[in-house]
Amino acid sequence: MAASCAHWVIPAVSMSRQILVTSALPYANGSIHLGHLVEYIQTDIWVRFQKMHGHDCRYMCADDTHGTAIMLRAEKEGITPETLIGRVWDEHTRDFAGFNIGFDHYYSTHSDENRELASTIYLRLKEAGLIDVKTIAQLYDPVKNMFLPDRFIKGECPKCGALDQYGDNCEVCGATYSPTELKNPVSAVSGATPVHKYSEHYFFKLGACEAFLREWTTSGALQAEASNKMQEWFASGLNNWDISRDSPYFGFEIPGAPGKYFYVWLDAPVGYMASFAKYAKDNGLDFDAWWGPDSKTELVHFIGKDILYFHALFWPAMLKYSGHRLPTAVYAHGFLTVNGQKMSKSRGTFITADSYLAQGLNPEWLRYYYAAKLNGTMEDIDLNLEDFVARVNSDLVGKFINIASRTAGFIHKKFDGKLADGVANLELIGEFQAAASTIAAHYESRDFAKALREIMALADRANQYVADEKPWELAKKEEAIYRLHEVCTVSLNCFRLLTLYLKPVLPKLAEQVEAFLNISPLTWDDAQSLFIRHTINEYSHLMTRIDPKSIDAMVEANKDNLAATTPPVVSAPAPARHAEAQVNATHPVAETISIDDFSKIDLRIARIANAEHIEGADKLLRLTLDLGDLGTRQVFAGIKSAYAPEALVGRFTVMVANLAPRKMKFGMSEGMVLAASGSEPGLFILSPDHGAQPGMKVK
Ligand code: 2FM
Ligand code: ZN
Repeated sequence: MAASCAHWVIPAVSMSRQILVTSALPYANGSIHLGHLVEYIQTDIWVRFQKMHGHDCRYMCADDTHGTAIMLRAEKEGITPETLIGRVWDEHTRDFAGFNIGFDHYYSTHSDENRELASTIYLRLKEAGLIDVKTIAQLYDPVKNMFLPDRFIKGECPKCGALDQYGDNCEVCGATYSPTELKNPVSAVSGATPVHKYSEHYFFKLGACEAFLREWTTSGALQAEASNKMQEWFASGLNNWDISRDSPYFGFEIPGAPGKYFYVWLDAPVGYMASFAKYAKDNGLDFDAWWGPDSKTELVHFIGKDILYFHALFWPAMLKYSGHRLPTAVYAHGFLTVNGQKMSKSRGTFITADSYLAQGLNPEWLRYYYAAKLNGTMEDIDLNLEDFVARVNSDLVGKFINIASRTAGFIHKKFDGKLADGVANLELIGEFQAAASTIAAHYESRDFAKALREIMALADRANQYVADEKPWELAKKEEAIYRLHEVCTVSLNCFRLLTLYLKPVLPKLAEQVEAFLNISPLTWDDAQSLFIRHTINEYSHLMTRIDPKSIDAMVEANKDNLAATTPPVVSAPAPARHAEAQVNATHPVAETISIDDFSKIDLRIARIANAEHIEGADKLLRLTLDLGDLGTRQVFAGIKSAYAPEALVGRFTVMVANLAPRKMKFGMSEGMVLAASGSEPGLFILSPDHGAQPGMKVK
């Protein structure tokens, strides 16, 4: 059985550890957004937690700079790829710093160290007999004179015929295929029809590493769910991996293979090493002690679940057969949804890091919210914007900060800023101190959600204590002065311990608290000391509440410009309604969409070849739609109240042809017929003018 988490492979917390930690390298052709930040915040919290224990933990990252997309983007902007990646590096490092991500080194895969390391690894794999050379045919753009990566080819799905699908998979029917199978392919770079062209490619023989990989993927380095996923991949067979690309390509030329370049995914993980190599050189560390085959350090990769294949198969195999150490752990997290849905430019929920900060939103609010959702598994996490406001305001301001704001003032007013020399009742403080090891265990296993639940339960205890003791009333009575001193001292002890426990998540706030409490940076060991006989500084407000208006403004600012400025392409006289059984409510046209969003909808003229009643269905008719060359479709339409089936046969209408097929009670519905309805009863299916033919595109 696979180990479920790191407990099996990581030494006890009390030993001093050397840990090299990485987050996946973001591509150098786009902005950092809130989806990316899940991972960097998760990793940063874990790293800060390790550092608070005094472990020698180094956090490495870099921009992932190579590949066709970056080359073409630079070309489009009329600049060199080097200029583009330099600019993006500045933006990325600024955004990460804005969210207090404390990399020890942030480098670039376009570096001398990376070229050298990638070449060395490749040559060692070659020496080990793990590189194969084969001639393969690929689609080639005869206008741009370049081979086209899958994502730069569009065409019709070979399985279902859906239009405008990428070269690797169909978003309508979910089929995966090779780009050469696509029907009527078009180059997304020039619009030209690609041709087949042969060239030599270099392959890493992954199949030959299977025995090793089967063992390694069940050795405890992966989460149980990831390890199980691997077994599925083994069952479907390991394909050899194409690691070369032909010129023109922005990357490193393969040694001994002029005109051939390393595929971006070959040198990207090597970027982890290269980032460390440069850092080691600058800081006098021994590279081999960290990356050599006998390294005693831990190597921990944080990644998203979408790139598991690369990190759990290719990467360990590359390391193993090039004479390097293996990862100690690969931790995958899930995707981010915003308000329960995929991030969307038209809804304004594709939120960039920069736009969040530009609204004056505190980065630690987001760090806290993500931490409260992260539990160390591969489950997706949801950023619900209303819940975000409520939770941060309630937990951080209402519970945590409240403890200091209700008691610190008395220490200054009545006791010259000095805490009591001792406290008679140590029970509450003892309870807080005793929680240190449980909270630490949750951080260690990346169950930050559990850690924060424990911490907030302690905050509730402290607030209850303040509410019971009522220092504001004690302050009015001369004879209660000692009691007041004790209550405020106990409360500030609790506050200090809460700050310590929250410090991996809220490093900047912790710094402010350390300044206010007049103490040196808190470490985990400080949890066991008592905070007495000490002069603190005057309290000033530590954190404000989130104003929901700034969240609205941020969402507004992220709405696709095109969506906001482009006039609607189609205007419907009455609210449109989808005549499909599962959509019964009328949906007023509530928000604008971009032209890109609209063009994703494949509207087609359809001839109703057949229409029939369905036994047991009150509202539905079964329609067979003829789409000419595109074949026929079965659609269940909720139009029984308005049409007798025989009145429909032979009529022409408009359908959404690329709607994902849906399994309904009576069978698969493979599209949707458009109909109009309004406040008056009645349903009116849309019909084209005379002359329109089945299969024609509606634009
Ligand atoms: O998926 C991505 O965004 C890649 N740029 C991640 C690379 S991680 C590592 F292997 F370099
Ligand atoms: Zn398809």
